[in-house]
Amino acid sequence: MKNKILVTGGAGYIGSHTCIALHQAGYEIVVYDNLSNSSREAVNRVASLIGQPIDFVEGDIRDTDLLRQVFSDNQFFGVIHFAGLKAVGESVAKPLMYYNNNVSGTISLLEVMAEYDVKNLVFSSSATVYGDPEVLPIDESSPRSCTNPYGQSKLTVEHILEDLAVSDESWNLIPLRYFNPVGAHPSGQIGEDPNDIPNNLMPYISQVAVGKLSKLSIFGNDYPTIDGTGVRDFIHVTDLAQGHVAALDYLLSYLEQQTSIEEHSSNKKSSIGFLPINLGTGTGTSVLELVTAFSKVSEQDIPYQFVSRRAGDIASCYASADKARDLLNWQAKLSISDMCQDTWRWQKMNPNGYNLA
Ligand code: NAD
Ligand code: UD1
Repeated sequence: MKNKILVTGGAGYIGSHTCIALHQAGYEIVVYDNLSNSSREAVNRVASLIGQPIDFVEGDIRDTDLLRQVFSDNQFFGVIHFAGLKAVGESVAKPLMYYNNNVSGTISLLEVMAEYDVKNLVFSSSATVYGDPEVLPIDESSPRSCTNPYGQSKLTVEHILEDLAVSDESWNLIPLRYFNPVGAHPSGQIGEDPNDIPNNLMPYISQVAVGKLSKLSIFGNDYPTIDGTGVRDFIHVTDLAQGHVAALDYLLSYLEQQTSIEEHSSNKKSSIGFLPINLGTGTGTSVLELVTAFSKVSEQDIPYQFVSRRAGDIASCYASADKARDLLNWQAKLSISDMCQDTWRWQKMNPNGYNLA
């Protein structure tokens, strides 16, 4: 067994897939989640997929007493921090809720990590921190700016992590900037389970395909793109999950190397500090291209209409994934067709998501 990892938000969409990847890679995990946007059923299904019970704590990252308890009960190598709220529209309506949960929650977690001298963190950041990019593909040195409270909360946490790395050189802080995560586990057992009518494209398309929603509205067909619709870098959630394993593996081997340098010379051990990394495929796909691919895979008609642009949307966004390839030895492997196929399987097998009633 390798090292023990605390996975905050591990019951959620990306967290649940990452738990499986971590287990397969030999990491021991403790999941910490308040189930505000997930269900116990997701944790049960992960347990059945990996064939052993999950060490699960139902709790809020702002509950520092409970966090302390968990840190004193376990010796963690590090934390993967998924816990957070993620709906852009809701963040505009309820900014205090978003800053409290995402920013104060992260500060609370970092304080407890510092107390227990656990200073290795992988944080769920987002391509949203790049705002409307001037240059494509977007690399990690691109300027950052955000226009909505959700994005601002991610950017604020990134700034906090940067300040922390400057203040104390023993922190290793890796914000992974996700592009557009889609897809589901190939078993069809776990996937994305939006609470309400989906805001994001892929779950909306799959609910139209299965007949739960009647028609997709495509927000704008006058963008300067291949067919006028928005272009995004869709990445399969299992590839994304592997990206987290690659980040931890990288950190472990970096620290081992530093320890051996320290043992064999008078040089002091150094940390990686603040190291942001994009997780994307490097390829853009338009909304219409995704609709066509999904329709082909599912053999369903997907009716759509063009409507006006959605406020805050940008024309095109796709990653330079070179840093992840060079540093983490990680590359996304799965295609748009795989993403559609796995989403469709999850949708058909779980028309009501985790709601078994
Ligand atoms: P999700 O909502 O499915 O998972 C987040 C999990 O965190 C949920 O299980 C929720 O119950 C839990 N949680 C929220 N607040 C908490 C708190 N205060 N204490 C404890 N648990 C809490 O979302 P996801 O899609 O899996 O996203 C995971 C992370 O990745 C989020 O931080 C999100 O902002 C970020 N992200 C997601 C996307 C995306 O498109 N899904 C893109 C970029 C970044
Ligand atoms: C959105 C958020 C982003 C967040 C990400 C993941 C906004 C402005 N951005 O990104 O901050 O990190 O989700 O949660 O909300 N589309 C349609 N019809 C739909 C839904 C989407 O045409 O019903 C189009 C959009 O206009 C866009 C593309 O599909 O061009 C992708 O949209 P979406 O899945 O919401 O992701 P982003 O907008 O990239």
